[in-house]
This record gives sequence, C-alpha cells and structure tokens, in this order.
Amino acid sequence: MQGKIIKNISNDYLVKSQNKLYTCKARGKFRKDKIIPLVGDNCIFDEKKKYITELLPRYNELIRPPVSNIDQAFIITSVKEPEFSPNLLDKLLCIIEYNNIKPIICFTKLDLLKEDEVENIEEIINYYKEIGYCVYKNTEIELIKKQFKEKITVFTGQSGAGKSTLLNKLNPTLKLKTNEISQALGRGKHTTRHVELLEMFDGLIADTPGFSSLSFINMKNEDIRDNFIEFNNYRHLCEYKDCMHISEQNCEIKKQVQQNNILKTRYENYIKFIKRWHMLAVSILGIKENTKENIKKLDNLNIDFFHIDIMDGKFVKNKTWEYEEIDKLIKTTKHKKDIHLMVNDIKKYVDEFSKMNPEIITFHYEAANNPLEIINYIKNKEIKVGISIKPETKIEKIEKYLDQVDLVLVMSVEPGAGGQKFMDEATSKIDKLYKKRKEKNLNYLIEVDGGINNETKLKVQNADILVVGSYITNNEYEEKINEFKM
Ligand code: DX5
Ligand code: ZN
Repeated sequence: MQGKIIKNISNDYLVKSQNKLYTCKARGKFRKDKIIPLVGDNCIFDEKKKYITELLPRYNELIRPPVSNIDQAFIITSVKEPEFSPNLLDKLLCIIEYNNIKPIICFTKLDLLKEDEVENIEEIINYYKEIGYCVYKNTEIELIKKQFKEKITVFTGQSGAGKSTLLNKLNPTLKLKTNEISQALGRGKHTTRHVELLEMFDGLIADTPGFSSLSFINMKNEDIRDNFIEFNNYRHLCEYKDCMHISEQNCEIKKQVQQNNILKTRYENYIKFIKRWHMLAVSILGIKENTKENIKKLDNLNIDFFHIDIMDGKFVKNKTWEYEEIDKLIKTTKHKKDIHLMVNDIKKYVDEFSKMNPEIITFHYEAANNPLEIINYIKNKEIKVGISIKPETKIEKIEKYLDQVDLVLVMSVEPGAGGQKFMDEATSKIDKLYKKRKEKNLNYLIEVDGGINNETKLKVQNADILVVGSYITNNEYEEKINEFKM
C-alpha cells in the first residue's frame, strides 16, 4: 500500500493511507543503506506486517526540521513590531525557492502602521505581488484558508510576527495563546526530534518552529542569483551570459534597478547575500594524511576550488609535489583548480601544470623578471592568470598589471608553509585592491592566502576567494566549510 508518513517518534512512523492510520517500523535494510524516513515521505508499506518497505522519491527535504515533500511555506512578515525586515523576507524567499517550495507571503500587523507609513508598505506589498508571489494580508482569512487543500504547508517568519495569531484566526479550535504556537502544535510535549503533520483545511501543516533555521548553506552564489525571481526576466539582456549583476559591464539588472523596475532593497539584499561569504579555495597542503581519500571527501563538499601550492625549494625553502604526483591525486576531481606557483622558473612550471587544465595559474611578482611576459605566457594557454605578492610587497608594484590579470593573490603569511598566523597588513591591501577595481572598472578577483580561519575571515571581507588550509583540512571538513558558507 502507498501512504504518507505524518509523524515520527523514535522508531515508529505513523503512516496515513486512505484516511486510515498505521503505525509502522522502517525496514532493517534502510538502516544498513543509511536511509532515514522523514515525515512527509510518500512510502510503500506492508499493512499486515506494519513495515515501510520503500520510500518514494522526494522533491525536497529539509534537514532541520527533518521534513520532506513540502509544497508551500507561509512567510509571516510583520510590517511593525517587529519592524518590517526586507532582508529576512528576501532571504527566506530565496532559500525557499531554491528548495522547490512555493513561498506564500502573509503580511501582518498592518493596523499598527501610521498614516504616512501605509503608502510605502502598500507599494512594497504590490511589488512582491507583481513579480509573481502569492501575497496576502492576515485579514484575508477566508482566502488563506483555501490555500491548504492537499498540500503540505510550513510556517516561518520572524518571532513575534504573528504566526500563532494567524493560526488562531484560521482555526479557533486550536485555541492558541500568542507565543504558544509550538506547544499547541504538539511541540513541547515531546522531544525536539518529534515532527508531526497536522490536518487542517484538507491539507497537512508541519509542526516546525525550527523552520527559521533556514540558511544559505549549500547554495552557491549562482543559486542565490537564480532565486531572485524577477532577475530572470531581464538576465538575457545582460552582456555576459553568466553575469552575477555585480561589477560586470552592461548589466541589465543594474539598469532596471536604476529605472526603479527592480526594487532597490531587493538588489541590495542580493548583494549582501552573495557577499556574506566568499569563494573557498581549499589548500590541499593542509591535508596531513590519506591525501587521496581526503581530496575525494573534499570534492563532495561545497568548495569552489582546490588550491594547489607548488614550491620549488628555491623561491621558498620547501618543496612540494612533482607534477605527476599531483596529477594523479587530483585528476578525477570535479572542482576547479587554482594553482599557486611559488617557484623561480615560472615558465617551466606553467608548461607542466597547464596540462591538468586548471582554472587559474598564479605566479609571484617577486619571482618574475618580466611579469608582463609571464602574464601573456599563461594567457596564451587559455588559462586565467593571477599575480601574487608577498607580505612585504606593496600594491603599487603591481599596479600596472592590474588591467592584465584575472586575479590578484594577496599573501597574508610569508609564502612557503601552511599553518602560520594571519598578518594584519593584508587587510589594507585587499581594501585598496577592492577600491581600485571599482574606481577603474577592472575585473580581477581578489584572493587571500594564509592564516584564514573563522575569525580572520572577518578581516578580509573585500576578498572574493579565501584560501583555507590548516583550519579546514585538519578534520571535520563539512562543519568547517559550512562555517564559511553561513
Ligand atoms: C602558504 C600557502 C598557503 C597555505 C595556506 O605558502 O600558499 O596556501 O597552504 O594554509 P593555511 O590556511 O594553513 O595558512
Ligand atoms: Zn597558496
């Protein structure tokens, strides 16, 4: 028989099928295969033996709270007390869209607005409607009631925005006291591991107060861009197909913002979200053992590059891998490679390492007799080129190459070894490069390398790519990487 899991308490799953309820266990095989049934899962079960035998494919799933196949999310958004937060609304919209859940915005507390505030809020409400969102005010109870039929719905929004008040209005029999929604929905009586789908208006509502823990984890900058839905109406007019709508020339999105066709706060929030974190280049120098295995692990995580440090024992004291070794290690990985040459004989190494088809090769300004020649040498191989400076080298030295390179790598430790302490001087260099890029309309990426961890990353806000070695590659990869992607 086919049914839907609507409740889970430790090893018991309550399965609903044709209006009947069955308490089932999961098949032993699930545990072996590391398959965990979730509330919301559609499943095949054996009604006599009371076993779930198969889970049907999910179209989405949340980790915290553990619920799957969510159709829609009500975003309860107050316009006053707490103050309207465009930032939170846009964040939730973006993440919810990304998870294949239909967002429904419900504005609350409009009666608290002063006369002169009403117009502004109405304009905002209309904007969200116009770009295609389903938008209600919490006074439109009868309309809202019609939304639940045959759907799994979750509620989210700022605390105090009026979730429980709304649910009370929808279904007075729930008799919710304000701020007690979680208890009334079953939470509080049970452990936090308990999730339940409750029936309301012919649909199911998830008891998920923790839903507010939604975050950008696992989303790439491109995902954030693609889930600002109104951008998609214009992006085909951008000069670059993969335009990120930041500093690119002839960006249609920026034009539309100027012409007030895209709400300014939406665009500003977008920029904030994609600047919240940086691209991550994980330095494989930090891996101390089982290199191959660990590279494989990292390859499955949300990183942007493998940063490969090549040292020749001359430009710096240490010596790292020969080409063949590194090629073997990295050959089958899917992430882009970012090669950092700390060598004197640059061309020789470029010849070798270009064979592994890297995204970027970066050389040291201090090692090059003729930087321009090296830049062109790398460009001729159709590989992006980066120029790097040691801590003691000033930005001015490389100023004339800035319009020629794709990347500037600022060393925040003395090159040559991982695990050193971040040098604060790097911050002002990065900020200078950032300012220059804007002023002169240049396109290089800014990368910082050395001593980056969860604290020092705050000192390099204006960098685009963070190289991280010892902080991440010691252990607990996933957790550490997520810290950077929050
Ligand atoms: C240093 C290297 C760095 C280093 C970073 O010469 O260029 O890439 O491995 O490692 P941590 O993050 O440990 O400073
Ligand atoms: Zn490096």
